[in-house]
This record gives sequence, C-alpha cells and structure tokens, in this order.
Amino acid sequence: MDLQLTVKIVHMIAVTLLIGAIIARGLTLFIGVRGNQPNPVARKLLVAWQHLAMTIIILTGLTSLVIKNFEVQSWFYAKIILFLVLFSSLIKAYKKDDSILLAQRRAGLTIAVVALIALISLVMIKPNFG
Ligand code: HEM
Repeated sequence: MDLQLTVKIVHMIAVTLLIGAIIARGLTLFIGVRGNQPNPVARKLLVAWQHLAMTIIILTGLTSLVIKNFEVQSWFYAKIILFLVLFSSLIKAYKKDDSILLAQRRAGLTIAVVALIALISLVMIKPNFG
C-alpha cells in the first residue's frame, strides 16, 4: 500500500474518531450539566479523545498536502475555512469559563455539527468552484 493511501486512511479513521468524540462530548451539554458547565464525568477522557482525533487529522492532512506538493483543488480552501469554524466553535462550547451560558455552549455545538456535516458533504461532492 503506498504512503499516500495509508495517510489518507489514517486521516479518515481520525475523522471517524472525531465524530464519535463530538457526539460523546456533546451529550455532556445535555445530561448531568452543572449550572453553565458540562457534565464533569469523564471530562479528561473526552478531552483527550477529541484532542487525539484533531491532532491526527491535522498531522495527516498536512502530510497529505506535502505528498501532493500542495496541488489542491479549489474546494480545499472552503474545507479549511469550515475546519476553522468547527475548531473555534468547539473551543467556545467547552471553554472553562462560567460566564458562557449553557445556551451559548449548545449553540457552539450546533455550529460545530453543521460545519462538520458541510465539511463531510464537501469532501464527498468535491464541487468545482472554478
Ligand atoms: C474534520 C475535518 C476533516 C474532514 C472531515 C476531512 C475529511 C477528508 C476526507 C474524507 C478525505 C478523502 C477525500 C477523498 O480523496 O475522497 C480527505 C482528504 C484530504 N484531507 Fe481532509 N478532512 C478534514 C481535515 C483536514 C485538514 C485540517 C487538512 C489540512 C491540514 C486536510 C487535508 C486533506 C488533504 C490534503 C486530503 C487529500 C488527500 C489525498 O487526496 O491524497 N483535511 N479529508
């Protein structure tokens, strides 16, 4: 199996891991919440799971870029913007700041889920913007 394919498979496994992490951590905003804070049970495990998935996605994405000599299609730029939206809204949803209301956290999670669905649709459809 060539390197490019291997890296792509690891990239996609990490995406699957991220979907699981977002669902599992998302539940902590609905079940057993403490005031404006998410359910603290298994917080460390969930943080580690999400960080691991994100790190592998970024590393394998960058590796794929290098292997492809940065020759990307135009939809790739839309993908990066959606990824940044996903990333920042997840940070907003789980920031350890008590002034962030539960409703704002849930809104952050909703934006993250919409961005992830758009991202996955984008890589499946691979639209030609040019
Ligand atoms: C949650 C975020 C992400 C999702 C869901 C995702 C999903 C995918 C999927 C499904 C593919 C395979 C597409 C195909 O060839 O049919 C892919 C390829 C690729 N991804 Fe991502 N990705 C994400 C984040 C990133 C990031 C952050 C980068 C760059 C730093 C990146 C760079 C790439 C590159 C360069 C390829 C092309 C690999 C190749 O054609 O050999 N991805 N991505």
